[in-house]
Amino acid sequence: MEYESSSSIWDGVYYYPHLFGGLMLTAALLGLSTSYFGGLGYSYLPYMWSDLGVFYKKKSEKKRIRVYMDGCFDLMHYGHANALRQAKALGDELVVGVVSDEEIVANKGPPVLSMEERLALVSGLKWVDEVIANAPYAITEKFMNSLFNEHKIDYIIHGDDPCLLPDGTDAYALAKKAGRYKQIKRTEGVSSTDIEAKACENHDNTSSLPGDDRKGSQSNNSRISQFLPTSRRIVQFSNGKGPGPNARVVYIDGAFDLFHAGHVEILRSARQLGDFLLVGIHTDQIVSEHRGKGHPIMHLHERSLSVLACSYVDEVIIGAPWEVTRDMVTTFNISLVVHGTVAESNSLLAGEPDPYAVPKSMGIFWMLDSPKNITTTSVAQRIVANHEAYLKRNAKKAESEKKYYAEKVHVSGD
Ligand SMILES: *[C@@H]1O[C@H](CO)[C@@H](O)[C@H](O)[C@H]1NC(C)=O
Ligand SMILES: *[C@@H]1O[C@H](CO)[C@@H](O)[C@H](O)[C@H]1NC(C)=O
Ligand SMILES: *[C@@H]1O[C@H](CO)[C@@H](O)[C@H](O)[C@H]1NC(C)=O
Ligand SMILES: *[C@@H]1O[C@H](CO)[C@@H](O)[C@H](O)[C@H]1NC(C)=O
Repeated sequence: MEYESSSSIWDGVYYYPHLFGGLMLTAALLGLSTSYFGGLGYSYLPYMWSDLGVFYKKKSEKKRIRVYMDGCFDLMHYGHANALRQAKALGDELVVGVVSDEEIVANKGPPVLSMEERLALVSGLKWVDEVIANAPYAITEKFMNSLFNEHKIDYIIHGDDPCLLPDGTDAYALAKKAGRYKQIKRTEGVSSTDIEAKACENHDNTSSLPGDDRKGSQSNNSRISQFLPTSRRIVQFSNGKGPGPNARVVYIDGAFDLFHAGHVEILRSARQLGDFLLVGIHTDQIVSEHRGKGHPIMHLHERSLSVLACSYVDEVIIGAPWEVTRDMVTTFNISLVVHGTVAESNSLLAGEPDPYAVPKSMGIFWMLDSPKNITTTSVAQRIVANHEAYLKRNAKKAESEKKYYAEKVHVSGD
């Protein structure tokens, strides 16, 4: 009941984001529209030959263009989301192939996320209409035919980086020849390897990832991402719609670092409790304060985009305060504030007031059963474990190579 005075702890520590003070930024404030994808007027008319050989043209119903894109989607980041957004813009329905665990193991070592978790992540994206589990790592002719014939895909989409088959030929040559290939630009910025490096750096002060030339730089929270948030990108990711007239607004907040399947599931649950889901993304400073140095692994803007890309999310507050204030509840007309049962160390700093004291006193706070156990920490631990296994494998390989060459040298020296 003493929420009036509780803001004093922020004084001199952080700025206290007063509403309308220009510090809390929501995507809708940037003024967006949903028409971004409109205007791609494809006049694709399907012609078919009937059994009688009569030329038959299907009229009226405009055929919906189905496009396909695939990927591993291990450690989702906004670059993946952006690629899928671009792919979706090239058609009406986006079908996404998620590469199988086995193929990832064979091509680049074990994935951090399981097939099920990767499917949950990809299906949760607002641009994705269908997913195909266990897609091949490189598109085979057989798979391509099944895409065209069974999945009714019109175009296969890929980034502008070359994708070569083991025999050195272009993986998309066939699709290109058939005129069924379209290309998108790769997204600037963070890669999965960067995220791994950052997670490992937090965990371990000595090791660096292979090919990492940043070994010398002390982790000044060495920001590896070259991500530059533009308002345009935020607009592209945003729904651009506010809550309807009688909408029940649900609010959930958090760091949403290393956006994972657990996040998707809790957001889905939260969204089901109302008509409009508003998500508060805590500032880097707040996250670091509560989770320790080296956190968050991803920037506020990257985290915001990942959340915004989720189909259950209507709006985000980019840089939400730790505490849910009465002001916020009023301004955003929040009907319900929820928090998951499985969350990153629900611990408070010593002497810190309960951030949900206000909604609790108003009787609008609910604990929400987290559908999944997975947390940012557990994902980070998996990344580290994978990395250590990788180093071990490499060390073993190096050793056996050394032995091999030593023997060889020995033999040839004889
Ligand atoms: C790295 O951290 C470990 C503890 O996790 C510590 O024992 C070790 O001395 C540290 N190494 C360096 C180079 O700081
Ligand atoms: C780390 O940051 C501090 C202050 O921002 C700066 O003075 C220092 O040079 C940085 N260190 C490295 C290794 O970049
Ligand atoms: C605020 O939310 C309630 C539902 O909880 C809704 O009935 C009411 O119309 C909303 N008020 C405004 C001004 O949108
Ligand atoms: C969550 O983890 C606990 C222990 O770590 C386990 O007992 C429980 O079955 C898990 N629940 C789910 C839904 O995976």
